[in-house]
Amino acid sequence: MRLSLEEIWPRDVLEEDLHRYEEKTSHTENPLLAFGLTKNNKLAYPLSGPSHRLIMGQTGAGKTTLAQTLMEIDFLRGRKVFELEPALEAKSERAFMNLPNNDSRMRQVLLEKFGIDIEDFKEWPFKAVVYSPPTSRFVNFLKKYENSPGIEFFRPLTFTEADLIDIIARTLPTGSIEGLIVADAYDQYTSAVKKRKKRNIEEFKNYVQEIGEGTNVNIENTLMKINRFYHVLKGVEIEKRTSLKDMIKNRDEISVFTTHFIERPEDRYIWTFAILVTVYSNWIDNLKRDYLMSFFVADANLLAPNSARDIVEKLSYFQTLMRQELQVYVKISRGKNMAWTLDTQRHDDLSPSIVSECKEWFVKRMYAREFAQKLGVEPRVLRTLSIEKAIYVGPLTKYRVLLRPPISRKASAGEYAPIHFLDAYERWENEEANY
Ligand SMILES: Nc1ncnc2c1ncn2[C@@H]1O[C@H](COP(=O)(O)OP(=O)(O)O)[C@@H](O)[C@H]1O
Ligand SMILES: [Mg+2]
Repeated sequence: MRLSLEEIWPRDVLEEDLHRYEEKTSHTENPLLAFGLTKNNKLAYPLSGPSHRLIMGQTGAGKTTLAQTLMEIDFLRGRKVFELEPALEAKSERAFMNLPNNDSRMRQVLLEKFGIDIEDFKEWPFKAVVYSPPTSRFVNFLKKYENSPGIEFFRPLTFTEADLIDIIARTLPTGSIEGLIVADAYDQYTSAVKKRKKRNIEEFKNYVQEIGEGTNVNIENTLMKINRFYHVLKGVEIEKRTSLKDMIKNRDEISVFTTHFIERPEDRYIWTFAILVTVYSNWIDNLKRDYLMSFFVADANLLAPNSARDIVEKLSYFQTLMRQELQVYVKISRGKNMAWTLDTQRHDDLSPSIVSECKEWFVKRMYAREFAQKLGVEPRVLRTLSIEKAIYVGPLTKYRVLLRPPISRKASAGEYAPIHFLDAYERWENEEANY
């Protein structure tokens, strides 16, 4: 069933803005919008509404790869796609989406089973931009590789002063009385200075100091913590930067957040949490949008663990906070044009209240006897699922699928750092030029 690109993507559409393509095509046969093929050779599509998804499977089962296919689909459907890359490992894989898949096995499946020939793409349909706070590590990286063609896909992201104050008030680890002081200072300060553009951290700190004086809280200590958070989130001074607001509005790119350039694990969590909170609240603040947000969280079990196994003592404060936040988000965001895709190793890694909100499950290879029984499949079936396959569980359906590999490149094992991407991108550009 080999189709040419023109059949997949009619010519008039090729010339049109890709993003207006979503609804028109959601019911026609289009392998670019399908995540797999059923046993009866039918294309399987993800649900079209704002439903949450859970991808689960053991390490190496192909979760990250499947998430990439789903990101491609959501992007082509005109959604605003975000991804938080794993905070702890600090991998940075999605920059590779700017390149065509070069894995021969995956390309063969794309061609033979899905009729997609990557060579047919005249213009590369995906753009993934990787954001980092402007840490000195990141600034050095940008400088060192300023002449590398792939560097344009890496950008520093900055928060406004008002955003920073919001984040700090929500995330600062405090004792109970200390927490009351910060909350009070925040309320008083933000009602005194209503215009967000006029707010600044020094004034906010003055409020904290004044309210804290005369209590038995060591307020100098609190101010030090505020400084630390402020410094981590703001980073160093840098000229070219993107604001969160501009990034959120830009639907022509997949926006990825990486902690790769943040040194300390705690700081990675501070930043990750700040992203989660601000992207969410900025989105909520503007619900007039007529398109969906699709937010991917990789290795969600480390971000918001349910089981003690995944709790890292040093980070447990942030892990707990993020789990609570995610619980709220998945519960209330469906009505707000927002869909979450979480990837994790086991079905019980995330709290049941999150799992139960996920309408679509993509189950990959895993050892989970009880869970298999709950799914109504033999445990052996889950244990022996090949890397190309998954069990899809939708609201009314459950079937085994052959997955559609991503059209874009998946970082190969051990080659997930930004410098690996820069190399690959440069090589690819040279090949193209010689071609
Ligand atoms: N559908 C697929 N077809 C062929 N190879 C795949 C497929 N999915 C994943 N792989 C390969 O398997 C390896 C592990 O995949 P990955 O998505 O990183 O797994 P996980 O995120 O579950 O650890 C990668 O090297 C990837 O190229
Ligand atoms: Mg992975």
